[in-house]
Amino acid sequence: MREVLAFANDDDVADAAAFLFVNLAAQAVRERGAFYVALAGGKTPLSCYRLISAPLISSRVDWEKTQVFFGDERCVPEGHPDRNDDAAAAALLNRISIPGKNIHRVPATERDGAERYESEVRGAFSIFSPSSDKGVPRFDLVFLGMGADGHTASLFPGRASLDEAQRLVLRVDDAPKPPPSRVTFTLPLVNAARHVALLVTGKEKAAALSRVLLEDAALPAARVRPTSGTLTILADAAAVSVSKAAS
Ligand code: 6PG
Repeated sequence: MREVLAFANDDDVADAAAFLFVNLAAQAVRERGAFYVALAGGKTPLSCYRLISAPLISSRVDWEKTQVFFGDERCVPEGHPDRNDDAAAAALLNRISIPGKNIHRVPATERDGAERYESEVRGAFSIFSPSSDKGVPRFDLVFLGMGADGHTASLFPGRASLDEAQRLVLRVDDAPKPPPSRVTFTLPLVNAARHVALLVTGKEKAAALSRVLLEDAALPAARVRPTSGTLTILADAAAVSVSKAAS
């Protein structure tokens, strides 16, 4: 199922995304005893992460039972300004009381980092949560952003990684958005999720969003179609502007 939610501005997108996070966390813990979430990289989700870190909101999440992963990571050392996990730590993870063992950083500078991260994802799920029927771990929530070219996570248009059907995590070395080397969830892992939230703000993304809404499969973000889950696209007015004409 897909729903498209349009908001007046990026702050309202952040509010709604934070609300979704808290609700899905409570539901997952209630129903399955754990909440598995994959955070998105880039700048768009950071204001949402900061909102979640506010005590009034963060106190509603059972962080002991929350497992945090990263949908993609740049292959640069921890502490490098390009690291997605460090940005999420500054905005959220360092501001809440979550056990360190519940934060699963990508070993992105290791040559076999993708294989190791895939094993870590599979291993974490085998302890607590039933995988989906195809044996693929089902995240309760995967946050994603989108680039102006329609890329999402580190899946870029025209790249072989977009058609990966078996592996759950891949290393790519041909990303057009620097840095070129990254570790990324693949579509099989993303589309196994119970809920995917795609956050899109800014007029520079309007053209790509209109193509996503028209399901133009050339765009990676248009290939995000949870098999038996829900995709929620949260967009601000600037990103939806062109899309109205297209839908
Ligand atoms: C990355 C991100 C990437 C990001 C988009 C949007 O590591 O680069 O995962 O997919 O979500 O490029 O980035 P902004 O939110 O900064 O526009």
